Amino acid sequence: MIKKCLFPAAGYGTRFLPATKAMPKEMLPILTKPLIQYGVEEAMDAGCDIMAIITGRGKRAITDHFDISYELEQQIQGSPKENLLKDIRKVMDKCTFTYTRQNEMKGLGDAIYKGNVLVGFQSPFAVILADDLCVNPNGDGILKQMVDLYAKYKCSIVAIMEVPECDISKYGIIEGKEIENGVYMVSNMVEKPETKNAPSNLAVIGRYILTPDIFNLIKDTKPGKNGEIQITDALCEQAKKGMVLAYKFKGRRFDCGSVDGFVEATNYFYKNLK
Ligand code: UTP
Repeated sequence: MIKKCLFPAAGYGTRFLPATKAMPKEMLPILTKPLIQYGVEEAMDAGCDIMAIITGRGKRAITDHFDISYELEQQIQGSPKENLLKDIRKVMDKCTFTYTRQNEMKGLGDAIYKGNVLVGFQSPFAVILADDLCVNPNGDGILKQMVDLYAKYKCSIVAIMEVPECDISKYGIIEGKEIENGVYMVSNMVEKPETKNAPSNLAVIGRYILTPDIFNLIKDTKPGKNGEIQITDALCEQAKKGMVLAYKFKGRRFDCGSVDGFVEATNYFYKNLK
C-alpha cells in the first residue's frame, strides 16, 4: 500500500566533521554497511520498492552506492568476497532509486517538500532519516509496524519514544491522547521545546508516514525553530485540521547523527550480528 520511501539526506552532518567534509554522513558505516543502506532495507521490508533520496552537494557517493560498480564486481567475481555484496545486490534488484537535490539547507520540512517531485501528490509515502538507525530483533521493523497501523487509520503517523528530561530540547515533542496501547492522537507538537514548556516527554524520531496533503501544509509553513522549515510545524497543522497519530514503536533506535549514538550502534551490531 505504501510503495515509496523518502530519505532526506541533504544535511551537512557537522557533528561528524571532519569525517563528513567530503563524505555524506549517511555513508558512514555501522560495521560494513552504510547507514542509508540499513534505512533502505527497513523500507524494503515494509513493502516499499521506490526509494526517493533527497541529496545535496557532496552526496554523490550515495548515488554511486546504489549502482553497479563494474570494475570492483568483476574483480571479486567467483571469490568468497562476492558474498559481501549479497544484501546490496538484493536491494538493487528489488528497488528503483530516484534522486533530487535540496539546494539550500532550509530544514527537514523543506527537504521533504522537495521530495514531492519524486513521490507525487496521489499516495501516502514513508520518510526515513537514515541517521536514526532502528532495529527490532524480535519482530517487524519499525516502518513495517507503522505501515500496518496506517492500514487501520489511513492518516499521517510519526514514530515516538520516551526520552529523559535532559534530552527533551533536542526533539519534536508531541501532546496527545492515547487511543490504543502505544498509539496517540496528536493534538499539539512543538519543535525542540525547553523542558519546562514541553507538553510531554514523547519525542518524534526519524520515521514518518505522511499523507500527500502535507505538501500544501509545508508550503504554507513559515520558518520556525532555528530559522528552518520544520516538518513538526506542518504536522501540527495537519493534526489540527484532520488526524495525525504518534506511535510508540517496538524496538530500539540509535541516534547515529551523534557520535555517542553511533558508537552505541556499532557496539550493538558488533555484539549481536557479527
Ligand atoms: P540533522 O538535524 O541531523 O542535521 O538532520 P544534519 O545537518 O544532518 O547534521 P548535523 O546536526 O549538522 O550534525 C536530520 C535529517 O534531516 C536531513 C539530514 O540529512 C538528516 O537526515 N536534513 C536536514 C535535510 O535533508 N535537509 C535539511 O535542510 C536539514
